[in-house]
Amino acid sequence: MANGKGQQKSVRAMFTSRFAAVATTVGSAVGLGNIWRFPYEAGVHGGGAFMLCYLFFVFVIGMPVLCAEFSIGRASRANAFGAFDKLSPGTPWRMSGLIGITASVLILSFYAVVAGWTLEYCVEALCGNLDFTDRTAGHETFRSLTGGTHALVWTVIFLAVNSFVVLRGVNKGIERLCNVLMPVLFVILVTFCIRSFFLPKFGEGMHFLFDPDFSKITPDVMLNAMGQAFFSLSLGVGSMLTYSSYFSDSTNLARTALSTALLDTLVAILAGVMIFPAVFSFGLSPEQGPALVFEVLPYVFNQMPLGALWAFIFFVLLFVASLTSTVSMSEISIAYFNEERHISRRKATLISSAITLVGGILCALSFGVLADFTICGKTFFNLFDFMSSNILLPIGAMLYSIYAGWVMKRKYLTRQFSDSVGHLSWFLPLLVFFMRWVCPVAIFIIFLNTIGLI
Ligand code: PHE
Repeated sequence: MANGKGQQKSVRAMFTSRFAAVATTVGSAVGLGNIWRFPYEAGVHGGGAFMLCYLFFVFVIGMPVLCAEFSIGRASRANAFGAFDKLSPGTPWRMSGLIGITASVLILSFYAVVAGWTLEYCVEALCGNLDFTDRTAGHETFRSLTGGTHALVWTVIFLAVNSFVVLRGVNKGIERLCNVLMPVLFVILVTFCIRSFFLPKFGEGMHFLFDPDFSKITPDVMLNAMGQAFFSLSLGVGSMLTYSSYFSDSTNLARTALSTALLDTLVAILAGVMIFPAVFSFGLSPEQGPALVFEVLPYVFNQMPLGALWAFIFFVLLFVASLTSTVSMSEISIAYFNEERHISRRKATLISSAITLVGGILCALSFGVLADFTICGKTFFNLFDFMSSNILLPIGAMLYSIYAGWVMKRKYLTRQFSDSVGHLSWFLPLLVFFMRWVCPVAIFIIFLNTIGLI
């Protein structure tokens, strides 16, 4: 185990500063999940009611799970598979790594499609083709850009860029990108929110997003809010576990978990504040699903001076935010192939990119020729999203939480938090209580509730 300072014989890469550790975990967490998925999920599931459930799942359930992943990752200094081999050799716990790898491949497949749309919108903005003048134009543009083979090409381009960044390794590629561009994205979002304040239906948008109608809190809304919270925080898949294995010993895990959750939620809320006033001001429906952000935002840009330039900047930043998230997803399977199967990083990247490419193609075609091909009433795109976010991530999160709370030797857990919260005697017992009881039981109840057993 390489968690004591004197014991670090490992040659694994490590983040070079504490700021880099936070910036990189925030880079993994902040992405399309906040800016594309959160507004559309909130739009479909009742606005304020969804928001309330989402906040509950981020701060009451997500934070302890994040601490669980961090502590397993840093205590083992290994990938999502190897961590359990090191901490509990010969036990079936390593299989939880399998859930993470499957989920990461599914997520990357549909995520690459949306990131591909983002790239496509960058180019269209640059060519001045996102200049919408009437309400149907946004819808038509979205359909024509995503329906044909364009989307397929852009998905492949995005996956190629992702593989390139991943090949450059942990420190250089990822850190540099996160450190510089995340703060810029934040400033741009705040600028758009200020712009949103001056839209005629700002109040209506805020009412929709922040005023919960409790009658809308159904099992389905809870399941989706839980899935969104885990998706947004990159939980249950092993990304945070793998990243924390690169943290230095002086990184304060509790504080890093809190900063990540706060910043991630802030970005999602800013995205909501940016989108919903525009939805109502332009007389659109909040329930449009995955197209929401792509159909609404060009309107917002259109109302601004130098709209095409703003659109271009926004979609470039969204693309970078997606990239920092997909890099963390790819890292799960690459670290597995590299460290467990002893395949070179280059080959590991190629293998995992090839697998995702197949998934990405199926998801991209879900908006074109495979639009009518459904399994359980869902296209590949919707199925991959549902299976990963609402099923695999919560199961993964439950397992990590149970492992850290019940199975992992207490001395490992204590050591992971002793530097950070040594003087807070209440912190560790409370965290363990949440890991042991609150998180697993809450996730389990929601599953039972969803399938109608309680
Ligand atoms: N959290 C990322 C986002 O919000 C998505 C993600 C999920 C990244 C799971 C890694 C693992 O966009």
